[in-house]
Amino acid sequence: MASPLFARKSVELLHAELQAHDRLHRVLGPVSLTALGVGAIIGAGIFVLTGLAARDYAGPSLMLSFVLSGLGCALAGLCYAEFAAMIPVAGSAYTYAYATLGELFAWIIGWDLVLEYAVASCAVAHGWSHYFQSFLGLFGIRVPGPLSIDPFSASPQVLAEAWHIGSVPIVFDLPAAAIVVALTVVLVIGIRESSRLNVLIVALKLGVEMFVILAGIPHVDPANWQPFFPQGWSGTLRGAGYVFFAYIGFDSISTHAEEARHPERDVPLALLGSLGVCTLLYIAVAGVLTGMVPTPQINIDAPLAEAFARYGLGTATLIISLGAVAGITSVLLVMMLSQARVLLAMARDGLLPPAIFAAIHPRFRTPYLSTVLTGAFVATVAALFPLKVLSELVNIGTLFAFVIVCAAVLIMRRTRPEVRRPFRTPLVPAVPLLGIGANLLLMFSLGWANWLRLLVWLMIGLVIYSAYGVRHSRLRNGTTRAGAQA
Ligand code: ALA
Repeated sequence: MASPLFARKSVELLHAELQAHDRLHRVLGPVSLTALGVGAIIGAGIFVLTGLAARDYAGPSLMLSFVLSGLGCALAGLCYAEFAAMIPVAGSAYTYAYATLGELFAWIIGWDLVLEYAVASCAVAHGWSHYFQSFLGLFGIRVPGPLSIDPFSASPQVLAEAWHIGSVPIVFDLPAAAIVVALTVVLVIGIRESSRLNVLIVALKLGVEMFVILAGIPHVDPANWQPFFPQGWSGTLRGAGYVFFAYIGFDSISTHAEEARHPERDVPLALLGSLGVCTLLYIAVAGVLTGMVPTPQINIDAPLAEAFARYGLGTATLIISLGAVAGITSVLLVMMLSQARVLLAMARDGLLPPAIFAAIHPRFRTPYLSTVLTGAFVATVAALFPLKVLSELVNIGTLFAFVIVCAAVLIMRRTRPEVRRPFRTPLVPAVPLLGIGANLLLMFSLGWANWLRLLVWLMIGLVIYSAYGVRHSRLRNGTTRAGAQA
């Protein structure tokens, strides 16, 4: 393709850039990487969205929804792993698209990843706030109404009791904004500290998930699993598209390839390992939840905690609320970390202003300005917009990125068959093709309104690209950091 819009970064150039200055510290081993994956995966999806997916769409067949969704992720994960091991630099799907499909597609994917990471962070912060407030509620502490919720979800009573500036009521979700600010500080201080904190939280939430399963099993009544498909297979598929959110994040491991000590071995291992662990847990949790509570009675705000509350198990409810708060915190941490890394990769390529997005802190060696900007965006949006709107937008954007990565493996195998691939996606072309098919199927299950939103988002991105990236692209201007042309 002759047009500079489709200029590609060669693998050699990407490797040469790895030698350039201002690289991130290589401090992450296999355990930290897997923990980052699990930290990004188990969160608001399993703790919050599972309720609505079971009650309104899939019923007990939610177990199969998790299998379908997990299958799409595993196929995409095998494709991510080939790229992550071959091109271990920050940027994930964005970098892979730059190497295979060219600059325009790379920009589209980079912009799309903002949906996956930053907008998902907003949704997750929202979920965190709900669980945190219900946790405080167990001790009789109540956040004042106008500081507890976004203005769109606030009741007329809350709006009336709020302070006003002129006629505008001051209503926002203070806990959601506060947790984002706190984590932004942790992230600016550095990956080592962030990663250690993450390992601790991940251990706690895995323990709580196991607790839900083991403590729930004695209360399972198999009669609740009938009818298994209350809305037929279409409900199961719709449920799969919805609970896909619960898997989002495993691919963020690939954004840390640049900080891995042995990326070739550890990144694929961590990707598939964290995905496998979470899939098994999710199927078991879905089985327990739908076995404990008749489908129409499943709670949609805090489904797991409420399932135990039905049986008068107060201590269990407390443990689950605590686990949800911790679990959702670690999701936020990894999502915000990943967003800053993708922005960093785009800025290094000149598609975003490098003075801001590629600035590395002289002492902490972290991309501190892009971290702070990500934090400011997430805190503001999470405080002011409703969870449902945010989470719907996230799923379709992420599925889109997965489809592109699967396609990119096929393209790269044809265009650059000789490049060393420390990890090879098995059964090519079957695995990438099935990955494209499975993730497209999940995209179609989400309905046209979500397609429209995705389109609008991508159009906004193209306007920004034509206003800035087109003129400043290092690849186009022949000023790549390695000083080489692609
Ligand atoms: N998978 C993440 C969650 O469920 C986004 O919160």
